[in-house]
Amino acid sequence: MARRSAQFVCQSCGAISTKWTGRCEACGTWNSLVEEGGGGVLAAPARPFAKGRVIELVALAGTSEDAPRTLAGIGELDRVTGGGFVRGSAILIGGDPGIGKSTLLIQAAAAVAQAGRRVVYVSGEEAVGQVRLRAARLGLSDAPVALAAETRIEDIVATVSAGAPPDLMIIDSIQTMWTDQVESTPGTVTQIRGAAQALIRFAKRMGTTVVLVGHVTKDGQIAGPRVVEHMVDAVLYFEGDGAHRFRILRAVKNRFGPTDEIGVFEMSGKGLIEVPNPSALFLGDRDSRTPGSAVFAGIEGTRPVLVEFQALVAPSPLGTPRRAVVGWDASRLSMLLAVLDAHCGLKLGGHDVYLNVAGGLRIIEPAADLAAAAALVSSLAQAPLPPEAVFFGEVSLSGAVRAVPHGAARLREAHKLGFAEAVAPVGNQAEAGAGGVSLVCVDTLAGLVARIAA
Ligand code: TYD
Ligand code: MG
Repeated sequence: MARRSAQFVCQSCGAISTKWTGRCEACGTWNSLVEEGGGGVLAAPARPFAKGRVIELVALAGTSEDAPRTLAGIGELDRVTGGGFVRGSAILIGGDPGIGKSTLLIQAAAAVAQAGRRVVYVSGEEAVGQVRLRAARLGLSDAPVALAAETRIEDIVATVSAGAPPDLMIIDSIQTMWTDQVESTPGTVTQIRGAAQALIRFAKRMGTTVVLVGHVTKDGQIAGPRVVEHMVDAVLYFEGDGAHRFRILRAVKNRFGPTDEIGVFEMSGKGLIEVPNPSALFLGDRDSRTPGSAVFAGIEGTRPVLVEFQALVAPSPLGTPRRAVVGWDASRLSMLLAVLDAHCGLKLGGHDVYLNVAGGLRIIEPAADLAAAAALVSSLAQAPLPPEAVFFGEVSLSGAVRAVPHGAARLREAHKLGFAEAVAPVGNQAEAGAGGVSLVCVDTLAGLVARIAA
């Protein structure tokens, strides 16, 4: 007999505790435990193995087909999913409120429907009229998308199971959904998990691709539905900040494709527009004559992307100088400053340091070290970098500049955008022939500093 008992669930990470504590023991968040009675903690049965069914075990060797996919027809979205939505899979799309998730998905829904597939769009946040208004504004009113404003999972599943199953179902958003199977209030972790489980089961059974929208909190975690991240096949984040027009769709988990692939969009008055050549856009507003501006030849997923690193280094009036980073890792900056101090004799302990990646892109590649360092040194020395140069290379704690992967692709992209020179690690010298860009090799950070100061 199953026994039900009260339980406390962390609304941040979903950890379950039998007693209330002020701080979640699993993730350390304060005041996040909420009592969610009757989540169904089952007492262990007396004879646990008695009722098991004998299943068939098969050999690892054997043939299997590639997962069938539904193309969204939006190139940048298909790139991030790894070539279209896999049938029967569940995808979570997270992002800050207002970033454009609903806009992206109504555009995707319309494109898939216009290609002759069955698409259902369920909005738990907006009324049917509001969704129609948005579609009209985007010029998508004719798309044969079936629409519903509903939040109860049982009703949604019953409705879509009644006819031919849809190829694509969009649930906007998972936080608004609730199921009878769980007694907690809508919006709690237990409800979100229950609703997601039911929808994922439906996806697997019917071969429908289910896309769940999840809102993210300020600190970048999908609020509550972080638990959903583990349940779905793919997790995509829609990023960008309100001040910029650019929006980046990034795969952080994908069972059926590459991760770290990005799709770039621009938010316009007519919805999201694909940006097939992001480098040109990210470098659009660059003022190459100012000190502190360095172009990084980066790789995002499988695609080379050029972005501008901007640095400002100035004597600080404060006892503890400021360090501020946008679009890059703050601890990476600290490391770089320590290496500049220890191996290049640049004392920045009394300087404020600001570093910004232009255009709202977030760079995580270690290969960006050299570009960041070039921007910092250029600002400190008040010496503009050569306007036709790009930078890439990883800096180690010893001050050495290490080789990075995909040198040739970086050089080709730089050439395509009119750059003539690349400052790169000695270890990448073998790729010098690629793209007609001349390679200036550096083997230590001190070597780079000497070049800029000269
Ligand atoms: P929305 O898709 O509703 O965001 P989310 O679902 O992630 O909360 O996007 C809302 C923002 O996008 C809103 O601030 C207005 C802007 N927007 C445009 O700039 N152009 C458009 O064509 C549309 C539909 C929205
Ligand atoms: Mg929305």
